Amino acid sequence: MARRTIAVLGGTGRQGRGLALRLANAGYRTVIGSRDPDRAAATVREWGANYDRITTTSHGDAIATSEIIILALPFDSVASTLAQHAARFAPASCIVDVTVPVVFVSGNAALTDVPEGSATEHVRAHAPSHVGVAAAFKTIPAHALDDVAHPLDCDEFVCGDSPQSRATAIELIDAIAGLRAIDVGPLSRARSIEHLTLLAIGINRRHKIRDARFRIVGM
Ligand SMILES: NC(=O)c1ccc[n+]([C@@H]2O[C@H](COP(=O)([O-])OP(=O)(O)OC[C@H]3O[C@@H](n4cnc5c(N)ncnc54)[C@H](OP(=O)(O)O)[C@@H]3O)[C@@H](O)[C@H]2O)c1
Repeated sequence: MARRTIAVLGGTGRQGRGLALRLANAGYRTVIGSRDPDRAAATVREWGANYDRITTTSHGDAIATSEIIILALPFDSVASTLAQHAARFAPASCIVDVTVPVVFVSGNAALTDVPEGSATEHVRAHAPSHVGVAAAFKTIPAHALDDVAHPLDCDEFVCGDSPQSRATAIELIDAIAGLRAIDVGPLSRARSIEHLTLLAIGINRRHKIRDARFRIVGM
Protein backbone atom coordinates (compact mmCIF):
# COMPACT_ATOMS: atom_id res chain seq x y z
CA MET A 1 0.00 0.00 0.00
CA ALA A 2 1.33 3.48 -0.87
CA ARG A 3 2.45 5.42 2.16
CA ARG A 4 0.76 8.71 2.96
CA THR A 5 2.30 12.10 2.20
CA ILE A 6 3.97 13.83 5.12
CA ALA A 7 4.79 17.52 5.48
CA VAL A 8 7.65 18.38 7.81
CA LEU A 9 7.37 22.07 8.66
CA GLY A 10 10.87 23.05 9.75
CA GLY A 11 12.33 20.02 7.98
CA THR A 12 15.55 21.91 7.26
CA GLY A 13 16.24 22.21 10.98
CA ARG A 14 18.04 19.97 13.44
CA GLN A 15 15.06 17.84 14.50
CA GLY A 16 13.16 18.03 11.22
CA ARG A 17 16.04 16.87 9.06
CA GLY A 18 16.44 13.48 10.74
CA LEU A 19 12.68 12.95 10.71
CA ALA A 20 12.41 13.84 7.02
CA LEU A 21 15.30 11.56 6.11
CA ARG A 22 14.10 8.59 8.15
CA LEU A 23 10.48 8.88 6.97
CA ALA A 24 11.58 9.22 3.34
CA ASN A 25 13.73 6.13 3.83
CA ALA A 26 10.65 4.35 5.17
CA GLY A 27 8.84 5.07 1.91
CA TYR A 28 6.81 8.18 2.70
CA ARG A 29 6.54 10.98 0.20
CA THR A 30 8.02 13.73 2.31
CA VAL A 31 7.52 17.44 1.71
CA ILE A 32 9.59 19.94 3.64
CA GLY A 33 7.67 23.12 4.39
CA SER A 34 9.95 26.13 4.65
CA ARG A 35 9.77 29.90 4.87
CA ASP A 36 12.18 29.86 1.93
CA PRO A 37 11.57 26.80 -0.30
CA ASP A 38 14.49 27.57 -2.65
CA ARG A 39 16.95 27.74 0.22
CA ALA A 40 15.38 24.56 1.63
CA ALA A 41 15.85 22.80 -1.73
CA ALA A 42 19.53 23.78 -1.71
CA THR A 43 19.82 22.45 1.84
CA VAL A 44 18.28 19.10 0.89
CA ARG A 45 20.65 18.81 -2.08
CA GLU A 46 23.56 19.28 0.34
CA TRP A 47 22.38 16.23 2.29
CA GLY A 48 23.84 14.44 -0.67
CA ALA A 49 21.96 11.16 -0.64
CA ASN A 50 19.38 9.84 -3.03
CA TYR A 51 16.39 11.37 -1.28
CA ASP A 52 14.21 11.92 -4.31
CA ARG A 53 11.12 11.37 -2.18
CA ILE A 54 11.88 14.68 -0.40
CA THR A 55 10.58 17.86 -2.02
CA THR A 56 10.45 21.40 -0.68
CA THR A 57 7.73 24.01 -0.78
CA SER A 58 6.08 26.75 1.27
CA HIS A 59 4.39 26.02 4.60
CA GLY A 60 0.95 26.55 3.07
CA ASP A 61 1.47 24.27 0.09
CA ALA A 62 3.09 21.58 2.25
CA ILE A 63 0.08 21.61 4.57
CA ALA A 64 -2.42 21.55 1.70
CA THR A 65 -0.86 18.55 -0.04
CA SER A 66 -0.23 16.33 2.99
CA GLU A 67 -2.29 14.03 5.17
CA ILE A 68 0.16 14.23 8.06
CA ILE A 69 1.82 17.50 9.09
CA ILE A 70 4.79 17.30 11.42
CA LEU A 71 5.48 20.52 13.31
CA ALA A 72 9.26 20.70 13.79
CA LEU A 73 9.37 24.47 14.26
CA PRO A 74 10.55 26.62 17.15
CA PHE A 75 7.69 26.61 19.66
CA ASP A 76 7.17 30.35 19.59
CA SER A 77 6.47 30.33 15.83
CA VAL A 78 3.75 27.67 15.96
CA ALA A 79 0.67 29.78 16.73
CA SER A 80 1.34 32.31 13.98
CA THR A 81 2.14 29.57 11.45
CA LEU A 82 -1.10 27.72 12.23
CA ALA A 83 -3.13 30.94 12.08
CA GLN A 84 -1.62 31.94 8.76
CA HIS A 85 -2.38 28.61 7.09
CA ALA A 86 -5.52 27.45 8.90
CA ALA A 87 -7.57 27.31 5.70
CA ARG A 88 -5.07 25.03 3.94
CA PHE A 89 -5.47 21.89 6.07
CA ALA A 90 -7.18 19.01 4.26
CA PRO A 91 -10.15 17.21 5.84
CA ALA A 92 -9.03 14.34 8.08
CA SER A 93 -5.44 15.57 8.18
CA CYS A 94 -3.42 15.18 11.37
CA ILE A 95 -0.73 17.28 13.02
CA VAL A 96 2.12 15.48 14.77
CA ASP A 97 3.65 18.00 17.15
CA VAL A 98 7.36 17.74 17.90
CA THR A 99 7.81 21.09 19.62
CA VAL A 100 9.11 21.52 23.13
CA PRO A 101 9.00 24.96 24.75
CA VAL A 102 12.56 24.87 26.06
CA VAL A 103 14.41 28.04 26.97
CA PHE A 104 17.96 28.40 28.20
CA VAL A 105 18.36 30.72 31.19
CA SER A 106 21.94 31.36 32.33
CA GLY A 107 22.95 28.21 30.49
CA ASN A 108 20.27 26.06 32.14
CA ALA A 109 17.42 24.48 30.20
CA ALA A 110 13.88 25.08 31.44
CA LEU A 111 10.34 24.68 30.13
CA THR A 112 8.41 27.88 29.54
CA ASP A 113 4.93 28.16 31.01
CA VAL A 114 2.29 27.51 28.37
CA PRO A 115 -1.23 28.74 29.18
CA GLU A 116 -2.83 25.65 27.62
CA GLY A 117 -0.65 23.34 29.76
CA SER A 118 1.80 22.01 27.15
CA ALA A 119 3.11 22.76 23.69
CA THR A 120 0.81 20.17 22.13
CA GLU A 121 -2.28 21.51 23.89
CA HIS A 122 -1.20 24.94 22.59
CA VAL A 123 -1.13 23.42 19.10
CA ARG A 124 -4.59 21.90 19.68
CA ALA A 125 -5.90 25.33 20.70
CA HIS A 126 -4.53 27.01 17.55
CA ALA A 127 -5.17 24.29 14.94
CA PRO A 128 -8.43 24.05 12.98
CA SER A 129 -10.97 21.92 14.87
CA HIS A 130 -11.29 19.36 12.06
CA VAL A 131 -7.55 18.54 12.20
CA GLY A 132 -6.35 15.84 14.61
CA VAL A 133 -3.40 16.54 16.92
CA ALA A 134 -0.87 14.14 18.41
CA ALA A 135 2.52 14.55 20.10
CA ALA A 136 5.55 12.45 19.14
CA PHE A 137 9.30 12.62 18.51
CA LYS A 138 9.78 15.00 21.43
CA THR A 139 12.25 12.90 23.42
CA ILE A 140 14.57 11.75 20.64
CA PRO A 141 17.56 14.06 20.31
CA ALA A 142 18.31 15.53 16.89
CA HIS A 143 21.80 14.06 17.00
CA ALA A 144 20.42 10.50 17.18
CA LEU A 145 17.67 11.10 14.62
CA ASP A 146 20.18 12.52 12.19
CA ASP A 147 22.40 9.43 12.35
CA VAL A 148 20.21 7.64 9.82
CA ALA A 149 22.61 4.75 9.32
CA HIS A 150 21.85 3.53 12.85
CA PRO A 151 18.55 2.23 14.25
CA LEU A 152 17.33 4.42 17.11
CA ASP A 153 16.99 1.55 19.59
CA CYS A 154 14.61 3.32 21.97
CA ASP A 155 10.97 4.09 22.72
CA GLU A 156 9.02 7.19 21.82
CA PHE A 157 5.95 8.52 23.62
CA VAL A 158 2.70 9.35 21.87
CA CYS A 159 -0.34 11.18 23.14
CA GLY A 160 -3.22 12.54 21.12
CA ASP A 161 -6.67 14.05 21.01
CA SER A 162 -8.27 10.86 19.61
CA PRO A 163 -7.43 7.21 18.95
CA GLN A 164 -7.07 8.12 15.25
CA SER A 165 -4.53 10.86 15.98
CA ARG A 166 -2.52 8.54 18.19
CA ALA A 167 -2.68 5.82 15.51
CA THR A 168 -1.25 8.25 12.96
CA ALA A 169 1.71 9.13 15.18
CA ILE A 170 2.24 5.46 16.06
CA GLU A 171 2.27 4.60 12.34
CA LEU A 172 5.18 7.01 11.79
CA ILE A 173 7.10 5.74 14.80
CA ASP A 174 6.65 2.12 13.79
CA ALA A 175 7.94 2.94 10.29
CA ILE A 176 11.31 4.07 11.69
CA ALA A 177 13.89 1.36 12.34
CA GLY A 178 14.54 0.59 16.00
CA LEU A 179 11.79 2.81 17.35
CA ARG A 180 8.83 1.56 19.43
CA ALA A 181 5.76 3.66 20.16
CA ILE A 182 4.47 3.98 23.72
CA ASP A 183 0.88 5.24 23.72
CA VAL A 184 0.48 7.32 26.89
CA GLY A 185 -3.07 8.48 26.21
CA PRO A 186 -4.71 11.91 25.99
CA LEU A 187 -3.14 15.27 25.18
CA SER A 188 -3.01 16.12 28.87
CA ARG A 189 0.06 13.83 29.04
CA ALA A 190 2.02 16.06 26.65
CA ARG A 191 3.57 18.17 29.42
CA SER A 192 4.99 15.01 31.04
CA ILE A 193 6.60 14.08 27.71
CA GLU A 194 8.03 17.60 27.39
CA HIS A 195 9.51 17.25 30.89
CA LEU A 196 11.24 14.07 29.70
CA THR A 197 12.86 16.08 26.90
CA LEU A 198 14.19 18.43 29.55
CA LEU A 199 15.43 15.44 31.54
CA ALA A 200 17.23 14.06 28.47
CA ILE A 201 18.95 17.42 27.93
CA GLY A 202 20.07 17.36 31.55
CA ILE A 203 21.35 13.77 31.29
CA ASN A 204 23.28 14.66 28.14
CA ARG A 205 24.95 17.59 29.83
CA ARG A 206 25.74 15.82 33.06
CA HIS A 207 27.26 12.78 31.35
CA LYS A 208 28.78 14.67 28.40
CA ILE A 209 26.88 12.64 25.81
CA ARG A 210 24.56 13.73 23.00
CA ASP A 211 21.89 11.12 22.49
CA ALA A 212 20.26 10.15 25.78
CA ARG A 213 16.79 8.72 25.17
CA PHE A 214 14.26 6.43 26.79
CA ARG A 215 13.22 2.76 26.98
CA ILE A 216 10.21 1.54 28.99
CA VAL A 217 10.55 -1.91 30.53
CA GLY A 218 7.71 -4.21 31.49
CA MET A 219 5.67 -3.85 28.32
N1 LIG B 1 16.89 19.73 18.46
C1 LIG B 1 16.46 18.71 19.23
O1 LIG B 1 17.24 17.86 19.67
C2 LIG B 1 14.98 18.59 19.55
C3 LIG B 1 14.51 17.47 20.28
C4 LIG B 1 13.16 17.36 20.54
C5 LIG B 1 12.28 18.34 20.13
N2 LIG B 1 12.77 19.42 19.44
C6 LIG B 1 11.82 20.46 19.05
O2 LIG B 1 11.76 20.48 17.63
C7 LIG B 1 11.50 21.82 17.19
C8 LIG B 1 12.57 22.19 16.18
O3 LIG B 1 13.82 22.18 16.84
P1 LIG B 1 15.18 22.39 16.00
O4 LIG B 1 16.27 22.23 16.97
O5 LIG B 1 15.15 21.55 14.77
O6 LIG B 1 14.99 23.95 15.60
P2 LIG B 1 15.75 24.82 14.51
O7 LIG B 1 16.78 24.00 13.82
O8 LIG B 1 16.17 26.08 15.20
O9 LIG B 1 14.57 25.25 13.52
C9 LIG B 1 13.88 24.34 12.70
C10 LIG B 1 13.42 25.03 11.44
O10 LIG B 1 12.36 25.94 11.75
C11 LIG B 1 12.40 27.05 10.84
N3 LIG B 1 12.45 28.27 11.64
C12 LIG B 1 13.48 28.77 12.38
N4 LIG B 1 13.12 29.91 13.00
C13 LIG B 1 11.83 30.13 12.66
C14 LIG B 1 10.89 31.15 12.98
N5 LIG B 1 11.21 32.18 13.80
N6 LIG B 1 9.64 31.08 12.44
C15 LIG B 1 9.29 30.06 11.62
N7 LIG B 1 10.17 29.05 11.27
C16 LIG B 1 11.39 29.10 11.80
C17 LIG B 1 13.66 26.91 10.00
O11 LIG B 1 13.28 26.38 8.71
P3 LIG B 1 13.18 27.31 7.39
O12 LIG B 1 14.26 28.34 7.50
O13 LIG B 1 13.41 26.32 6.27
O14 LIG B 1 11.80 27.88 7.43
C18 LIG B 1 14.49 25.87 10.76
O15 LIG B 1 15.31 25.11 9.92
C19 LIG B 1 11.55 22.72 18.43
O16 LIG B 1 10.25 23.04 18.86
C20 LIG B 1 12.26 21.85 19.46
O17 LIG B 1 11.85 22.13 20.79
C21 LIG B 1 14.08 19.57 19.13
